[in-house]
Amino acid sequence: MAAITYELLRRDETTGARAGIIHTPHGSFPTPIFMPVGTQASVKGVSPDELRDLGAGIILSNTYHLFLRPGMELVREAGGLHRFMHWDGAILTDSGGFQVFSLGDLRKITEDGATFRSHIDGSKKFLSPEVSMQVQRCLGSDIVMAFDECIPYPADYAYAKASTERTQRWLVRCRKAMAEAEDQGLFGIVQGGMYHDLRAWHAAEAAALDLPGYAIGGLSVGEPHALMEEILSSTAELLPADKPRYLMGVGTPDYLLTGVRHGIDMFDCVFPTRVARNGMAMTWTGRLVMKNAVHTHEHTVLSEGCGCYACRSGYTRAYIRHLVRAQEIFGLRLLSLHNLYFLQEFMQRMREAILAGTFLSFYQDFMNHYHKK
Ligand code: GUN
Ligand code: ZN
Repeated sequence: MAAITYELLRRDETTGARAGIIHTPHGSFPTPIFMPVGTQASVKGVSPDELRDLGAGIILSNTYHLFLRPGMELVREAGGLHRFMHWDGAILTDSGGFQVFSLGDLRKITEDGATFRSHIDGSKKFLSPEVSMQVQRCLGSDIVMAFDECIPYPADYAYAKASTERTQRWLVRCRKAMAEAEDQGLFGIVQGGMYHDLRAWHAAEAAALDLPGYAIGGLSVGEPHALMEEILSSTAELLPADKPRYLMGVGTPDYLLTGVRHGIDMFDCVFPTRVARNGMAMTWTGRLVMKNAVHTHEHTVLSEGCGCYACRSGYTRAYIRHLVRAQEIFGLRLLSLHNLYFLQEFMQRMREAILAGTFLSFYQDFMNHYHKK
């Protein structure tokens, strides 16, 4: 039995949206799903019990950060990442590719891999397909992401083509390095920049490797929304229908909805926890900036009917505004719990709509009420 399997429950007829279940060695979860981000083996300010309570079935962590600190040997010694951080749900680890390549001048790429300087102590480090797989073996994540290059935007055609071809050669090396791993599933990452032919080529090459799942990388890197939707929809269509599809680094509500509409099953983003730490609450009509004076006398919860710890306990906007202004950690925690819960509920409502055959009206309804800011 493969470590990661996908079960399709229903495909929406009018859009490409799908509802399903992903099975992993650390439990099954329904899709489409949002994965909270725990970069440093911790979802900032939120305990694993709280993650469970708000309905998270899988979280994301990062090879790059854990490779630099505390190091793969220490996590292995602790019994793997699940035990180390005390989370027994599923874990997906990103490969380090994205973080290394966002270091800009600090790194150098060759066919072999990437040399870079640690952002912690400036020491010289090397990551390659083989090293990334070795680190992720030590971490013991359920879903292992391939080592890739996230092409910056904009990029000229020649660069995008050479990079995509190299990422594909790296994917073949990742697959070889993971051949013996029975309890972990390797996901390929389709690159290709903003070029349809490169995306199509890479999707076909990657699909031919018959991996347990596929991600679309290199999107939401500064391109206009319309371009991102165009590349996303044409690429998603080319991915195997019997495997999970993951759109990397996407997590604002309008983008999640767009992704689901085009048949994406998995998402991750620092957005809900990052904006929480900036004093913002996510709601069905848009973001609330809790510092704003309008909340001073609002003795009501963040979002009426919300089942998160903050709202169901009755913490008010006025109180949370006070906590944020006073820079109390508790205020940021309440906002993180609320935002993560909000996204879990958002995904759940999308699943229900897909299963009920009403996804398109859900989509239109949400877009009509939600204000992007
Ligand atoms: N996170 C967001 N985009 C990407 C990407 O293109 N590659 C990887 N590895 N991680 C990402
Ligand atoms: Zn709430």
